Amino acid sequence: MSALAILDAARERTLAVYGELPDEVLGAWPDPEFSPLCWHLGHIAFTEAHWLLAKVGGDGALSVPHARRYAQDGCAKAERNAGYDRGELFDYLERVRAVVRERYATLDPDHPLMRDDYLARFLANHEHQHRETMAYVLGCHRERAGGAPDDAAPLVDDGAPSRLELEGGAVTIGTDDPHAYDNERSAHEVTLAPFALDAHPVTVAAWKRFIDAGGYAREALWSPEGWAWRRTNDVRAPKGWRTAGESFVRVRLDGRWSLDGREPVVGVSAHEAEAYARFVGGRLPTEAELEHAARATGAAPRIAGLTAHGPMPVVPGEPDLLGNVWEWTASTFAPYPGFSPHPYRGYSEPYFDGVHRVLRGGSFATDPAIARPTFRNWYVPETRQIFAGLRVAYG
Ligand code: AVJ
Ligand code: FE
Repeated sequence: MSALAILDAARERTLAVYGELPDEVLGAWPDPEFSPLCWHLGHIAFTEAHWLLAKVGGDGALSVPHARRYAQDGCAKAERNAGYDRGELFDYLERVRAVVRERYATLDPDHPLMRDDYLARFLANHEHQHRETMAYVLGCHRERAGGAPDDAAPLVDDGAPSRLELEGGAVTIGTDDPHAYDNERSAHEVTLAPFALDAHPVTVAAWKRFIDAGGYAREALWSPEGWAWRRTNDVRAPKGWRTAGESFVRVRLDGRWSLDGREPVVGVSAHEAEAYARFVGGRLPTEAELEHAARATGAAPRIAGLTAHGPMPVVPGEPDLLGNVWEWTASTFAPYPGFSPHPYRGYSEPYFDGVHRVLRGGSFATDPAIARPTFRNWYVPETRQIFAGLRVAYG
């Protein structure tokens, strides 16, 4: 695919999901930790103008005046929907792309960021990631809108998942692919002890068993930080769960409330994930274990896409190491040996702070280009807005 086709394909996916949403949704700010949808769209356009037109092309006309509004460090999240204007926003997206289309062939092909369409791919990947983050924001908006039913079907429970046994040994982690993110590079060897993994992430029905067994009240299952967090926030169930008769429901991206017991749980923090793993006699896997398992099983990502409006039920007998829901790991986000920031220091480095936790796998909302075995996602352990659950490891 040509560079412009790569950029256009990413945009088509973004507009298919968010292009028709009403102003009260695009301009809303439903969660203090995440930016409003309108900001994400403007930030996508700003990032494209900043790199292709300003950094490489030397013309900041479509980025510099928009930096306060749309750069990562431009303004506080609370200001990011101020003065939202639909026409202006979509015009900005289109104007940047039109100028990029017009000038792309004139940009220096020997610029280090232009070789092999590096920037076009970087920008497409950047847009893919924001498209997923926007789905978290949309989920928060739907949750706030309410409307849960009084009753729901009982949760189907298939019981404990089968396990995958992995031998471990010396395995390769990371990649030398020049198009990968800086934090995925370089490929290096690590040694893993033999371990086992559940064939599937923890399901909704399994999480209900944890609730029914008093998992949220048993301090011994929690880390000290996790217990303090649970108490301070009075957490008793995953984010967004509502009781509906004898059952539970959770809002989907289309605003419908339902839950299938066989779906992987989402809306849990890393603290809850850790407590659950202890409850079943296991632990959270390390990121190297999950990467190795994803490579060893070699299965294609299970990605239903945003039109599915939520995770799919797991399929017993078909291990799913990539896609459907992100999985919390025991690993803090840290640089691999020989890490070198690229294409800018702020992409990964500020998050190597000993606090951010790595998530692996990808969700139903992740673009297939991102859901690769080496991809490392990161959030602080308290985060529950993202489509993240866990898979239990043993040994
Ligand atoms: C990897 C999803 C944590 O959203 O902060 C987007 C990706 N970086 N723009 C984020 C990212 C710059 C990043 N995450
Ligand atoms: Fe960004």
